[in-house]
Amino acid sequence: MNRTRTKTHIPPETVDEIRTRSDIVEVISECGVPLRPAGRDYKALCPFHDEKTPSFSVSVEKQIFHCFGCQTGGNVISFVQKYEGKSFIETITWLAERLNISLPSQDARASANRKRFTSLEELNRFAVQYYHRQLLTENIGGRAMQYLRHRGVKPQTLKLFQLGYAKSARRDLVKAATDEGWTIQQLVDAGLIKNEEHGPQDRFWNRLLFPIQNERGTPVGFGGRALSEEHQPKYLNSPETILYNKSKVLYNLDKARQAIYRKGNALLVEGYMDALMLYQHGVENVVAACGTSMSEAHATLLKRFTPEVILVYDGDSAGLQAAQRGLHRLLAAGLRVRIALMPNGEDPDSFTRQHGAEAFAALTEKAINLIEFQIQTGVQQQNIHRVDVKTQVAKDISATLINIQNRIERSEYVKYAAKELHLSPEMLWHELRDLGLKEAPAPYRTRTNKTAPQKLSPRAQIEAQLIEALIQSPTLIAYVKTQFHHADFTEPNFVQLAQLLWEANSENEEFNIQNLLNKCHDEKLRAFISNALLRKTPPNLQARVDGCLRKLRHFIFKDMEQRVRSHALAEGADEFETLKELVKLSDQRRALDAQPIHEPGAYQ
Ligand code: GTP
Ligand code: MN
Repeated sequence: MNRTRTKTHIPPETVDEIRTRSDIVEVISECGVPLRPAGRDYKALCPFHDEKTPSFSVSVEKQIFHCFGCQTGGNVISFVQKYEGKSFIETITWLAERLNISLPSQDARASANRKRFTSLEELNRFAVQYYHRQLLTENIGGRAMQYLRHRGVKPQTLKLFQLGYAKSARRDLVKAATDEGWTIQQLVDAGLIKNEEHGPQDRFWNRLLFPIQNERGTPVGFGGRALSEEHQPKYLNSPETILYNKSKVLYNLDKARQAIYRKGNALLVEGYMDALMLYQHGVENVVAACGTSMSEAHATLLKRFTPEVILVYDGDSAGLQAAQRGLHRLLAAGLRVRIALMPNGEDPDSFTRQHGAEAFAALTEKAINLIEFQIQTGVQQQNIHRVDVKTQVAKDISATLINIQNRIERSEYVKYAAKELHLSPEMLWHELRDLGLKEAPAPYRTRTNKTAPQKLSPRAQIEAQLIEALIQSPTLIAYVKTQFHHADFTEPNFVQLAQLLWEANSENEEFNIQNLLNKCHDEKLRAFISNALLRKTPPNLQARVDGCLRKLRHFIFKDMEQRVRSHALAEGADEFETLKELVKLSDQRRALDAQPIHEPGAYQ
């Protein structure tokens, strides 16, 4: 049950220290959610679902968050876990680093690596700033600035994206960085310079630089664009380094993630310039693969933020053909994929410049499902009536269909494709099985299902009230515990919560709801806790708790009566004994209404 106890165990005291020192408002803001003060609390549009009025609340006093719209909630740890898509351990490590707390039990090599990481991150930050300053210095970056202006990049955009300029010299950065105390080896490790026979050389010269940041906004490399046709290659990118794994980084994801959450989809474009210019035009949910093809890791990364990706491609679709395998990876990650085609020869940057952001938005709204698109393109082939062509098209389409994770969706597309191709669905199924389709594919996970409110049975509703009261007033746990076993709850979630509450109370330390949240690995349970904490506490919780206990006892006695009855029916037991038993039980049940169930003063 306790995932924290596997490889790296972090002691609960450390977890608690990290939690206490990580102010939830600061962390959520740093993650890019714009919080606004509202009374003693903070509010924002929920980053976990699309909404028009803010129902995402953060309580400073209680150090928890809760969204009343999608019922997501918890403490600072649960927030980072969910928002960053991290495991518990990863989250703790991340928060600890942010606070400069060193975690115990990390092996020496890991911490040495960590140091290398941190220094390279700092070096990259230095390089970003250095190149950015060069761009802004008139007699150095003047021409690059002019180029950007000519392309319509606004001053605030080039600032936001920290665009830079590497001047024509070959040892400019080498000098500037070593003057600041960085070593040649560090510069080489960061991919910023090359150590050649005749000495160290800057990787980038006379190029416009696009800093590439990971999804957390840490700079990991650069894309460098030449400023003239003669200067080749047109784009020169940083090599892979210990910080920069090209198949795991998407350009602009750090800035786009918020909008991606909100819109429920991500636009995937080909170029840095496309992403940047769309962003400038207010289309913020846009990312680009930095000159590499879509990898499995890219797909998994995107899946953390959205269920749907819209590919924006040049209309000639040669690029699309080349990108096939990458597209399959997106489907295989369980993403829905749609495609928006630009008119021939245009890219999102040139299109938006010419036709405006609205026309672009219209184009992406009309984006058609990738699979329908493929089927249609296949069907429209000239010689589709020829058996060999049709066979090839069926094979190509099957190669796509096999990646769809949702069984129902796949089966619908099989039917659709078969109809369009004038084939029997069995033929396609056969093809799919040849490609290795297994009968029970992974279930498709949607984000929306989770938020659908569940209808609770009358008994479970009382259980909910009781647990809620205990969360709001933990001093009552000791009292309830003596009267009620956690296994007496019927709803599995409440059994778990009650068990956690009972345990928390038995420890010889002060009850701490935050520790409870840390022990809760189930999102639903955390949301229940944060919801209870943020709701107005009803007056006289004691009376409410007593009421709940009484009602629950009713249910329990009824259960027992039921059991005695069915036992009697099944086993042919002694009728008189059964009757006596039943009378006793129903007397007890009725007595519950007549008397208070606790001795006055037995608690507090
Ligand atoms: P602009 O011409 O400045 O508008 O850039 P673009 O992004 O439209 O260029 P293009 O459509 O030619 O290329 C799309 C993306 O492919 C670029 O953003 C780069 O990431 C990558 N790319 C293009 N040319 C090269 C190249 O010569 N070398 C490498 N490594 N990548 C390239
Ligand atoms: Mn372009």
